[in-house]
Amino acid sequence: MKKLKFPKGFLWGGSTSAYQFEGGVNQGGKGLSVQDKNKDNWMPGVTGFEVCSDHYNNWKTDVKMLAELGFKSYRFSIAWSRIIPDGDGNINKEGINFYKNLILELKKYNIEPVVTMYHFDLPLALEKKGGWLSRNTVDAFEKFARAIFNEYKDLVKYWLTINEQNIVVLMSDVIGMANTHSTGNKIKDKWQINHNLLLAQAKAVIACKEICKNALIGPAPNISVTYPNSNKPLDFLAKLDFDMERNWVYLDVGVKGVYPNVFLRKLEKLNSMFDYEKNDMKILKKGTADFIAFNYYNSATIKYKQAHTNNLEIKKDQQSGLVGDTYEKVRNKNLPLTEFNWEIDPEGLRNTLRDIHERYGLPLMITENGIGGYDTLTEQGTINDDYRIKYYQAHITQMALAIDDGVELIGYMPWSAIDLVSTHEGVKKRYGFIFVNRDEFDLKDMKRYKKKSFFWYQNVIKTNGENLS
Ligand code: BG6
Repeated sequence: MKKLKFPKGFLWGGSTSAYQFEGGVNQGGKGLSVQDKNKDNWMPGVTGFEVCSDHYNNWKTDVKMLAELGFKSYRFSIAWSRIIPDGDGNINKEGINFYKNLILELKKYNIEPVVTMYHFDLPLALEKKGGWLSRNTVDAFEKFARAIFNEYKDLVKYWLTINEQNIVVLMSDVIGMANTHSTGNKIKDKWQINHNLLLAQAKAVIACKEICKNALIGPAPNISVTYPNSNKPLDFLAKLDFDMERNWVYLDVGVKGVYPNVFLRKLEKLNSMFDYEKNDMKILKKGTADFIAFNYYNSATIKYKQAHTNNLEIKKDQQSGLVGDTYEKVRNKNLPLTEFNWEIDPEGLRNTLRDIHERYGLPLMITENGIGGYDTLTEQGTINDDYRIKYYQAHITQMALAIDDGVELIGYMPWSAIDLVSTHEGVKKRYGFIFVNRDEFDLKDMKRYKKKSFFWYQNVIKTNGENLS
């Protein structure tokens, strides 16, 4: 077999998000976010986010371990409510310093910080005042963006705007972000939230270009290549509809600065066009991305749905079950499942890379990919996660094939660098190369242990992806 080749300077690394990893909810002057649930107001049997992996109190040890792993990059998110506790008021110096110290520590080990500005954790005070349905939240986001750009402009090269905007819009309930301000038209609300997020993103991009002269900025949606369930023409039409709402509308606006016409027509036909101001479209046109970051877990297989309900329904979780007015996501029997029932499709990653590359032609960065599973700490302090190694071997091979096809891929930051709390399935669904010694409700000693995949990934990075065995 041909040798796998990755470009020189490829950004091997890993990913986390503030609300799933930091904890320290009541420390350092942080305000509450919509995600700061505890076990009494969150799902039964699943831990809340008040402690997570206690990274807030272990950040130095954590960075040291990532450096030992050989990370060239590390993607983390800034908690908006740590920087501006009520989302829109005064800046909290302690919050600014926390991330400054983290970035400086990463740089000490030559790890490139890749910073997500917003990962599902809207300040609670803003949600109470209207959330993303309100344009005030757009203005507040721009203020927050300008604050962090001014503070970190000389330290950060890669900025990501909004994590998985498509999941926020389509499946807010399963990721703890349910919209609490319905106007009565669910479809319009959904796309109004989307428009406001796109506007917030464009304003942040414009501010970034003004303030951070040497930085690059891009969106970070969750993109799944889409297969029609059969060769029936209507299944293909359903695939196009799904693609539009699940993948492309976010990138068409974020990269090209324009809404796809078919999408706007559809909203008009449904009497659900979002409200916008005259200048909005100009802002969207101006605030476009330098590169595309995206998260990939699996592909989607789509079937035409006979009964038109004109309503988007959400089922189970981010990856399984999404039903639109003409389409339905169905199980692809060709693909195996993870322990948490997510389909595994490594070739789908190559297909997704090709699809995005052909559509937009910008450099690409994978900012999430990974497998959630049960891991056990043995008495010897080891964790045998061969299943994770197998998953990554297959996906990294497909990345190399996509690069060989001509795709410009600049980095890979799988989810997650270190164990953390899943969006809605607790800490038992583990993702990291590093095990955190805690259970769902027993916080134990929080000690970090290197999993088998840690040593394997260390060697992958050392050989720039040439040795995956
Ligand atoms: C992505 C999110 O949807 O998938 C992460 O950006 C999330 O925040 C990851 O943790 C895995 O999903 P889950 O539900 O297993 O935590």
